Amino acid sequence: MDVIKHEIEHEAELSRAHWDLLLDADPWLEAVLDYLPPTQAEAEMFRIGKPKNPYAICVIVPIADGYEIKNIATRTIMRRQGMASALITHVLELAKMRGVKAVEIGTGETPGVMGNAQIRLYEKLGFKRDGVLKGFFSRYPIPIIDNGHLLRDMVMLRQEF
Ligand SMILES: CC(C)(COP(=O)(O)OP(=O)(O)OC[C@H]1O[C@@H](n2cnc3c(N)ncnc32)[C@H](O)[C@@H]1OP(=O)(O)O)[C@@H](O)C(=O)NCCC(=O)NCCS
Repeated sequence: MDVIKHEIEHEAELSRAHWDLLLDADPWLEAVLDYLPPTQAEAEMFRIGKPKNPYAICVIVPIADGYEIKNIATRTIMRRQGMASALITHVLELAKMRGVKAVEIGTGETPGVMGNAQIRLYEKLGFKRDGVLKGFFSRYPIPIIDNGHLLRDMVMLRQEF
């Protein structure tokens, strides 16, 4: 596989295109607003692509001993080119540079479905399963369907340095 170098920028302003990406990864607006400023003043966003035309973004917030990646999404036509991997790698490097202990990321898990694509991707990047938030998606006002499966639980993955 060719490794393409993706330039990553620290994001300051949200455009409509950012919102399309944010809501693609997490379709409940209230949940997204919960981890963005002003609610989460310390949230940071990283972008690949142009300021008003992002190809991929991710959002991190501080947790007790590091950061949690709260949202990550790549535009459908830009997927499988390593952009999410590049953003996650950037967050891991930044976390190490800032001297924190860990980075976490959560994703939906469907009982009986062995490892969805997101979990495989995160495990490939060094994350390990660290618990399940039972019924996490059941509190959403709309059913969250991933690849034809109704999501109920969120699996948390964690990487320590
Ligand atoms: C999950 C998501 C963010 C991944 O984004 P991406 O930019 O396509 O991710 P990457 O390209 O880094 O990796 C994805 C896959 O492409 C493969 N890949 C990476 N670069 C590649 C390349 N140049 N050629 C072919 N495949 C490649 C990776 O190996 C990985 O394969 P795997 O799924 O078999 O492990 C994207 O699918 C998405 O936005 N989904 C909708 C929102 C979402 O679900 N967000 C996560 C919520 S937890």
